[in-house]
Amino acid sequence: MYSPTLFQDKVALVTGGRSGIGYGIAEHLLKLGAKVIICARKEEPLAKAAAQLSELGTCVHRPCDIRESDQVEALADLIEAEFGRLDILVNNAGGQFPSLARYISDNGWKAVINTNVNGTFFVTRIMANRFFIPQQEGNIVNIIVNHFRGFPGMAHTGAARAAVENLTKSLAQEWATYNIRINCVAPGTIISSGLDTYAEPVKELLDQMKEDNLMKRHGTIEDVSNAVLFLASPLSAYTSGTTLYVDGLDHLHSNRMRMVDAFR
Ligand SMILES: NC(=O)c1ccc[n+]([C@@H]2O[C@H](COP(=O)([O-])OP(=O)(O)OC[C@H]3O[C@@H](n4cnc5c(N)ncnc54)[C@H](OP(=O)(O)O)[C@@H]3O)[C@@H](O)[C@H]2O)c1
Repeated sequence: MYSPTLFQDKVALVTGGRSGIGYGIAEHLLKLGAKVIICARKEEPLAKAAAQLSELGTCVHRPCDIRESDQVEALADLIEAEFGRLDILVNNAGGQFPSLARYISDNGWKAVINTNVNGTFFVTRIMANRFFIPQQEGNIVNIIVNHFRGFPGMAHTGAARAAVENLTKSLAQEWATYNIRINCVAPGTIISSGLDTYAEPVKELLDQMKEDNLMKRHGTIEDVSNAVLFLASPLSAYTSGTTLYVDGLDHLHSNRMRMVDAFR
C-alpha cells in the first residue's frame, strides 16, 4: 500500500529481526527500498533469516545481545563500515513470560527489565550518538506492548514497557533539536513466533481473548509493520513522543484478567 520507493536508500536497523514481527518489519522495509541490518542473539537462525531477506535487497546481520553495550558498539561499527550512516532504528527485540507477579523470581524480573528497558536504552543511546545526532536526522520506533490498563499476568513486561514509553517521551523532547523523531507501537495479541514460547494453557486462552476483542480477531505481523513503517516514514513527519496502539481496541476493551484467572 505504501510507495515502493518510500525508503529508497534509507538504512534501517531492526533488532530481533531474525523472527516474527521483527522479520516482518525487515521484509517490509526491504520491499520499499531500504537497506536493512538485523541482529539477535542466536547466530544460526539469524544468518538464515538474513539469507532469506537478502533475496529482497541488501540485508546484513550481526549477532548482538542488546543488553551488552560493547556488543551494541560493535554492531554500530559494522553499520558504519558497511553503510556509513543509519536512518531508522526499530527497537523490536524483547521478551517476557507469563506468570502471576507473586511467583516472578529476582532473576526472572531482572531478565525482563534488562532486555526490554536496558537493552532498548543501550541500542538507542549508542545509535543516536554514533549516527542520528551527528547526522542531525534519525527516526526511532520502539515496539512495546499494550500496557494501557496494566498487564496482569505479565507485570514485569508491563512495567518495562511503561518505562520505554516514558523514555520515548523524554528522548522525543531532548532530541527534537537534532531532527530525531521517536515513537512507540503497542501491539495487542499478534499471531507470531513470540507466542510459540508460551505454555499450552496460555495458548488455549488465545481463542477466548479473540472473542473478547471487539474486532473479533488477533493482529497480524503486517498490521504491526504497517504501523511501524508509517511512524518510520515522512508520512508521520509531525508526530513524535507518541504511542500507536495496534490492538483492535484491546487497550480500551478487553478482559485483562483472563490470564490471571486461568493461572489461579
Ligand atoms: N507477538 C505478540 O503478541 C506481541 C505483542 C506485543 C508485543 N510484542 C513484542 O514484539 C516484539 C517481537 O515479538 P515477536 O512476537 O516477533 O517475538 P519473537 O519472535 O520472540 O521475537 C523476539 C526477537 O528478539 C530477539 N531478542 C530477544 N532478546 C534479545 C536480546 N537480548 N538481544 C538481541 N535480540 C534479542 C530474539 O532473537 P534471539 O532469541 O536470537 O536473541 C527474537 O528475534 C517483542 O518485543 C515482543 O515482546 C509481541
